[in-house]
Amino acid sequence: MCNHQGETIERRSFAIPNSASPATIPNYFEGIQVFQPLMIPRKTRFLWVVLLLTLPMACGGPTIFPGSLLEGGKLSQKHHIPHPAIIAHRGASYNAPEGTRPAYLLARELGVDYLELDLQLTRDNALVVFHDEDLKPKTNIEQKFPSRKDCQISDFTWDELQQLDIGSWFNEKYPDRAPRLFEEGAHPLRILKLEDVIEIAQGGTHTPGLYIELKYPPDRHPDDRSGCSNAPPRPSGSFERVLVKTLEKAGWIKSVVNNSEIQFARVIFESFDPKSLERLKALAPNVPRILLVDEIMVKNHGWEALIERARNLGVGIGPWGSSWASDPNWSREHAPKPYRAIRPDLALIGKFHDAELIVHAWTINDEWEMDEVLKSGADGFFTDRPMQALAIVGRKDSRDIEKLWKKIGY
Ligand code: G3P
Ligand code: CA
Repeated sequence: MCNHQGETIERRSFAIPNSASPATIPNYFEGIQVFQPLMIPRKTRFLWVVLLLTLPMACGGPTIFPGSLLEGGKLSQKHHIPHPAIIAHRGASYNAPEGTRPAYLLARELGVDYLELDLQLTRDNALVVFHDEDLKPKTNIEQKFPSRKDCQISDFTWDELQQLDIGSWFNEKYPDRAPRLFEEGAHPLRILKLEDVIEIAQGGTHTPGLYIELKYPPDRHPDDRSGCSNAPPRPSGSFERVLVKTLEKAGWIKSVVNNSEIQFARVIFESFDPKSLERLKALAPNVPRILLVDEIMVKNHGWEALIERARNLGVGIGPWGSSWASDPNWSREHAPKPYRAIRPDLALIGKFHDAELIVHAWTINDEWEMDEVLKSGADGFFTDRPMQALAIVGRKDSRDIEKLWKKIGY
C-alpha cells in the first residue's frame, strides 16, 4: 500500500509513569483542570467554557473539542489502552536506525506506551522486523547478494538475512544523529525477529506493549520475481496464523481471556488491509485492532465507509499525518494555516469518537503537530521522536539521552 501557532494549552503536570504496566492504564488527560467543572464557581462556569473554547481561535489556532478528549479517554480505557498513547514508530527511529535493537531499547527506556513494528515473513517462516519491500536503500544487499538485490524479505531465509548490515545507511544519511556509529565494526546491526522485540519490551524497568503491523503478506505478492523465489504463494492467512501463534507461545496473548482479567492491552494490531484485520479478528478476537487509513483509501471509499469498516474490524482508526511533519527541520511557523482545514481527518475526530473508535494518528514527528493532533482530540499517535512526544504530553523528566545510550550499551 502506497501511502504515503503560538498558543500553549494548560496541562496538568504529570507524574512519569513507571511503565504502562499491566497494573496501571495511564490516562494522562484524566486530571486536566478544565474538565473538572465542579471546581469552577457555578456563576462563572459558562464564561469559562466560552473563554476556553474561543481563546485558541483568537490566537490563530484551532478550536478545542473537550468532548472528544473525554470521549477518547473513556474509549481508550474501555479497551485497556493508555491515553494518550505514545507509540514509538519503528522504535525511537529519529535517533537510531528504524526497527533495530538500539531504536527499540531507547524507546523502551524513554517510557513509551508501545513499540511499533512492521513484520515480514521470511522464506523459512521467521517473523522479522523490516518495513520496506526494497532491501537496497537500508541494507548492504547489493554487496552481499548482488544477483538477488531486487528480491524481497520473503525470498530470503533468516540465516541469509542475518548477513545484512541494517545500520550503516543511517550513519551515512544522518551523521549528526548518529554520533555513535551504528556501522559494521562499531555496533553492527542485524534484522530482528518478533521474539527479539518481545524480549526487549519485557526486559527493562519500563515494559511497553507492541503495536504490530503485518507488511506485504506473502500471499498478496504471488507475482513472478525472476531470480528470487520460486516458492508458491503461501495459503491465505498463514502470515496471521504465524503471528498469533508466536505471540501465544510467548505468553503475550491468550486465546481465551475474560475481559475483566485484562489490565493493559499489551498488543495492538494495525493494518491498512481490512482482510488482514478480519483474519486477525478471527484468530485473536481479544486483541484490539486499528484500521490504518491513508489519502488513497479516503479517495476510493470515503470517510463514512471507512468508519463503518473500522467499527466492524476493530476498536479504532489510524488517520495519516502530514507529509511535511516527516521532516524534522519543519517548525510551527511552517505549518499551513488554518491547519484543521487541510487535515479533514482531524476535524473528524469527534465523528470517530461518536462511532466509538479511538484515534491514533500516524506518523507525527514535529512538536507543533503533536500538540495540534492532541488538541484535536486524538487518543495517541505514532512518532519517530518519542522523547519530544513524551514531553508534549507532560511525561518528561530529566532523562539525559547520553545516559540512556550508555545504559543500553551504546
Ligand atoms: O504504522 C503506522 C503508520 O506509520 C503506517 O505507515 O509505512 O510507517 O508502516 P508505515
Ligand atoms: Ca507501520
